[in-house]
Amino acid sequence: MNDQQLVARAMEARQRAYAPYSHYKVGAALLGKSGKVYLGCNVENASYGHTICAERTAVVKAVSEGETEFEAIAVVTRNGGSPCGACRQVLAEFAPELTVYIADENGEHRTTTVRELLPDLFTPKHLEK
Ligand code: THU
Repeated sequence: MNDQQLVARAMEARQRAYAPYSHYKVGAALLGKSGKVYLGCNVENASYGHTICAERTAVVKAVSEGETEFEAIAVVTRNGGSPCGACRQVLAEFAPELTVYIADENGEHRTTTVRELLPDLFTPKHLEK
């Protein structure tokens, strides 16, 4: 699966965003090493702080289905917004070298990595000693 195909899946996920408060719809598509794609969207809540982001929705879906190794994630917003800090940290847990495609609603995207987005990241290795 190439970058454009993964971005297209994230756009599909974005259509299901539940964002009645911010109206900022986000879609994510996480490609597992198995080849399976896990879609995620933001799911807001009337108690605002309980909102979950699209990226974390996708990660939680994948891990709960038994997949913990990933190749890439595509994230789509109306204006090419970058993943928030919480999502960067959650992605770093499983895949510090993950490729990240950050796209706008037209599918225009840039390519980066979790490590680039979150330098000097805290990983499970830090808990070993
Ligand atoms: N949001 C995401 O889904 N992912 C991010 O990385 C940034 C923010 C969502 C949360 C909220 O529903 C809306 O975008 C506005 O913050």
